Amino acid sequence: MNTQVILLDPHQPDPAQIQAAARVLRAGGLVAFPTETVYGLGANALDDAAVRRIYEAKGRPASNPVIVHVADALAVRPLVREFCDVAQVLADHFWPGPLTLVLPRSERVPDVVTAGGPTVAVRIPKHPLALALLREVGLPIAAPSANRSTCLSPTRAEHVRSGLGGHIDMILDGGPCSGGLESTVLDVTTDPPRLLRPGLVTLTQLQAIVGRIEVGPSCSEEPARSPGLLERHYAPCTPLVLANDNGMSLVDSLTRQGKRVGWVTMESTSHEGAVVRVMSADPAVYASNLYDMLHQLDQMGLDRIVVSLPPQGDAWSAVHDRLRRAS
Ligand code: TXA
Ligand code: MG
Repeated sequence: MNTQVILLDPHQPDPAQIQAAARVLRAGGLVAFPTETVYGLGANALDDAAVRRIYEAKGRPASNPVIVHVADALAVRPLVREFCDVAQVLADHFWPGPLTLVLPRSERVPDVVTAGGPTVAVRIPKHPLALALLREVGLPIAAPSANRSTCLSPTRAEHVRSGLGGHIDMILDGGPCSGGLESTVLDVTTDPPRLLRPGLVTLTQLQAIVGRIEVGPSCSEEPARSPGLLERHYAPCTPLVLANDNGMSLVDSLTRQGKRVGWVTMESTSHEGAVVRVMSADPAVYASNLYDMLHQLDQMGLDRIVVSLPPQGDAWSAVHDRLRRAS
């Protein structure tokens, strides 16, 4: 299959091109598009066969449900049985934005979207190009991150092309994603709500709005309920190890063994024999650059990537989560 790549101004995308992408989606095709978090791989969420094509292109297990993206809160209603007060308050605060709410699904949502489960995950992205596409198409769009299953999420159109080119119909290139990490996933079907995946909206921000929140998947549930919690996920192909210190001694010993090493650190440093990447001490900037930097290192044919762990704390928790899964 020939994958069409269309370059667009993210702030003022050409309406004719957006209409063309919407036609592909209405016809059951797959269109990758940028969001404020990472690039998504979109299909008509109400079209069972179209969503199946997402799973095929990604090599994603059918047990892992996908997030449905909509243009506005009204468009959520037909997808859910109930939109509780907690959901409403959170939506008022964080939508459009990087918060995904898990809600009781309605009959209209195909099983393939929810992996047969009783809930559906929904969000309104905060990206002008994504919103233009959602408004134009007038359909809920199922969109996981636009990468092969278990690999790093894409934050640039080139990442999408190198992972999925030839397997999808279209890529809308709106430049790099500013957020750089996936949305926070919060299950509001339980009381208190449960954080299933840390993300760009932090636990503290959520607690400030709704009070108590459980963290992590419930022990009584099948882990498959949110396989974003699968241990290895979001990983580069190059083996990645985490260092609790600045990583220097590990990098030393690996390079002495003749290994080609990438070293990701927050200290300004250099090392003979290692490819050094110095990351920002600002968690938002770190998050925004993390996947792009790992994609770059992954293409260098290194033997190992060593990452010295950033500080602990709420603002770093999504970064920690992704680094842990990448290792
Ligand atoms: O930022 C994002 O969320 C990006 C952009 C494209 O919106 N999307 C994304 O989708 O990261 P994906 O499929 O890569 O990750 C979705 C996560 C997975 O961990 C999945 O298991 C979980 O959300 N999820 C989806 N539907 C769910 C549901 N009904 N209940 C619990 N978890 C769900
Ligand atoms: Mg993903």
